[in-house]
Amino acid sequence: MMPYSFANEIACQKNDTRKHKTKMNIKLVKAESRSDIASLAELAREIWRQHFTPIIGASQVEYMLEKFQSVEAITSQLENGAEYYIACLANEPVGYTGLVPDVANKKMMINKIYLRNSCRGIGIGGYMLNFVEQECKKRKLGKIWLTVNRFNHGAIEWYSRKGFETVNEVKQDIGNGFFMDDYIMEKRI
Ligand SMILES: CC(C)(COP(=O)(O)OP(=O)(O)OC[C@H]1O[C@@H](n2cnc3c(N)ncnc32)[C@H](O)[C@@H]1OP(=O)(O)O)[C@@H](O)C(=O)NCCC(=O)NCCS
Repeated sequence: MMPYSFANEIACQKNDTRKHKTKMNIKLVKAESRSDIASLAELAREIWRQHFTPIIGASQVEYMLEKFQSVEAITSQLENGAEYYIACLANEPVGYTGLVPDVANKKMMINKIYLRNSCRGIGIGGYMLNFVEQECKKRKLGKIWLTVNRFNHGAIEWYSRKGFETVNEVKQDIGNGFFMDDYIMEKRI
């Protein structure tokens, strides 16, 4: 496992209208081993069931977990160029981001960016996004893009605040009668 960094100073605003600085022991760990992949799949099950059931329904959540976030699915994605980083707060996995670099077209896809419910709104997502932006600069990729469910309003608002623009919408048939009904958003680096 490759740690990204430790103990970063970030703005903490949870339950507090005053902006103050606090030390949080955050690190990003590049997922490589089978146990890393098992941690990712476990986080996905917890976060997707909590967050996406009200948006797309329980049966689509279970279908998508099996298709995209099972140990087998993540292993295959890693073998095909995807990268996953697990966000650890005080050494506890609390979320993750999944990236798909596209060197030929000089762009990076954020394929996944998720945090446990109890760890949202205190800057960890911003920390992961900042890491992705630094990686883009290092690799000379000029754009980050992603898809987000059209009804995932909180995330759309968050991406907009972080400088992403909606550039298109797409409805993908993912089988079994299910669709992903998404906006495409992008940010130039
Ligand atoms: C979207 C997500 C990754 C953002 O990470 P986060 O750690 O909660 O966000 P941060 O604490 O870094 O950013 C908070 C900032 O965004 C703003 N914000 C706006 N809407 C927000 C929302 N719904 N949730 C959290 N912050 C939100 C806050 O006011 C704050 O603003 P500031 O930077 O100007 O102070 C995280 O909330 C999450 O996992 N959401 C559920 C899963 C999801 O929808 N993922 C995206 C799938 S496409």
